[in-house]
Amino acid sequence: MTRERASCFTLRGVTMCGIIGYVGERAAAPILLDGLRRLEYRGYDSAGVAVLSARGAIDVRKRRGKLGNLTTLLDAGSALEGTLGMGHTRWATHGAPNDVNAHPHSDCEGRIVVVHNGIIENYQELRARLTARGHGFRSETDTEALVHLIEDEYHAMDGRRDFPEAVRRALRQVRGAYAIVAFCRDDPDLLVGARQNAPLVVGLGEGENYVASDIAAMLAHTRTVVALEDGEIAAVRRCGASIRTLDGAPVNHEPFNVEWDDVGGSKGGFPHFVLKEIHEQPEALSHALIGRIQEGRPALAELAHLDLSRVNRVALVGCGSAFYASLIGKYLFEGWARLPVELSVASEFRYAQPVIDERTLCVFVSQSGETADTLASFRLAQDAGAMTVALTNTQGSSLARGAGAVIFLQVGPEIGVVATKTFTAQTALLTLMALYLAMRRGTMEAGAARQVCEALLRIPQQMESLIRREAEYRAIAERYAEHRSMFFIGRHLGYPVALEGALKVKEISYIHAEGYPAGELKHGPIAMLEPAVPVVAVATQGSTYEKVVSNMQEVRARGAKVLAVATEGDDAIRAHCDDALYVPATHHSLTPLLAVVPLQFFAYHIAARLGRDVDQPRNLAKSVTVE
Ligand code: G6P
Repeated sequence: MTRERASCFTLRGVTMCGIIGYVGERAAAPILLDGLRRLEYRGYDSAGVAVLSARGAIDVRKRRGKLGNLTTLLDAGSALEGTLGMGHTRWATHGAPNDVNAHPHSDCEGRIVVVHNGIIENYQELRARLTARGHGFRSETDTEALVHLIEDEYHAMDGRRDFPEAVRRALRQVRGAYAIVAFCRDDPDLLVGARQNAPLVVGLGEGENYVASDIAAMLAHTRTVVALEDGEIAAVRRCGASIRTLDGAPVNHEPFNVEWDDVGGSKGGFPHFVLKEIHEQPEALSHALIGRIQEGRPALAELAHLDLSRVNRVALVGCGSAFYASLIGKYLFEGWARLPVELSVASEFRYAQPVIDERTLCVFVSQSGETADTLASFRLAQDAGAMTVALTNTQGSSLARGAGAVIFLQVGPEIGVVATKTFTAQTALLTLMALYLAMRRGTMEAGAARQVCEALLRIPQQMESLIRREAEYRAIAERYAEHRSMFFIGRHLGYPVALEGALKVKEISYIHAEGYPAGELKHGPIAMLEPAVPVVAVATQGSTYEKVVSNMQEVRARGAKVLAVATEGDDAIRAHCDDALYVPATHHSLTPLLAVVPLQFFAYHIAARLGRDVDQPRNLAKSVTVE
């Protein structure tokens, strides 16, 4: 078996669908289905598998909707036999989510099959050309152009047909982004994988190998992984894998060992992954902090090699929950390290012509490390010569491989589509980064930093106490499940918590929820308040506490019901709210880490009460990479 050598990547990204391929001695179908189950969070518009049977025929089964529809189809049909195959779970971009547009896609003769994640930008031109050459198209997808193109190249070969070479020639004519896996019934021991601007990894086993969009898809079988770079193509056989560039030059990548536990397959007795991941936060946060606080000081060895003395400004970039964690980071970086921080959602940063140069420290916050806009922003920063740091959960991700420094969250895979434990880990690590920068710049006294570090180390235990209060939070949440609209307000560090709380409610319960700076409410949203529109106020202790309480009084005067997130022992707040979600006291800079937890429970129990699909909310995907 060959094991390849790894290096760094260039970045760009499109990641929505999930891909798994297997070649070995075992029955492929159960391995593919298990892989798809672990990938379903990427997209769930349709799912499909293709297996090469012992008779040399390609058996394709696919169904619109969730993986469950495919398994029902498989259960009702004849057994899928064969030891080589591929699977796909789709988040639709081109073509409606129906059975025909589901992957895998086949060529005219059923000789070749392809699964694809990404967008083939010149597919219309390719489709017109191939149609003129007699190829019959069945679906509306961009992917189908690719499979016919491979077929065309395969048939055009003089002498002995070489399938990887046909794929290589086809891909050289393709513009856009892709991770693909293909196989051909003429070569029953071969999977071909290729990537351009979308992740693809090869998993190395004993007498069997894998190709997948995510490490998680094959974690039950192997931890030895090789990540392809953009513009590379892998020929994966039972006994090894060889990689070439699209120009035909051989490449060697060092395999790396994945340290994640294989927890992806199990809900551990919880009804949903989201609930499991909320409960995991005390342990997850402890892992995130391991070795990173020493003798009361932040110890981020990952940043030690950076020349931080030349930094004169910081840019923090992320999407969704990662952006809200970055807002907390901004307040702390500015407050402690006294550096100006530009904060941007990645989809804006990439087009905003941001002022960045070699003195700018650009921090990219992304659970997946594959979000397209975040990667595009990263490239921009790289081109400007900025110092780049990735804060990500995903080993081997594009961001992790490209950034000048990487801080891993170390919280294990997050399967629920919405961020929970990764949000708190991002927040904690941005807090540590702010402390670290402040210490390196001499803008904070050691004693003050020690206080924060000691308080941070107590947070996992305090989170345990929050988790024990779930029943109380649930009872309150269920009383709010009937509302159709809510506002979440907060000031300073309470504001990002309000934003994240509102996002959780929108994402999993589909109730309209808007996060607002409490002081800004009077500039518009207050007009919408009435008894049916409750306001959730983040009113934990801190310098803006009294201001928030006064905003609570204002909204109550307009007839709105108020739910406060308050500090334990603050009985006085009961006079200004209808309900309170209490959290323990901590250092004022760390309140977001505790205040967000009851809001996660709040959103979860509303969604569960409404019977929503909590782990896979409609229209969302875990890694959003199409613009
Ligand atoms: C999607 C997910 C969010 C996540 C965001 C950013 O919207 O549903 O939970 O916060 O993408 O993802 P990233 O992987 O870059 O952190």
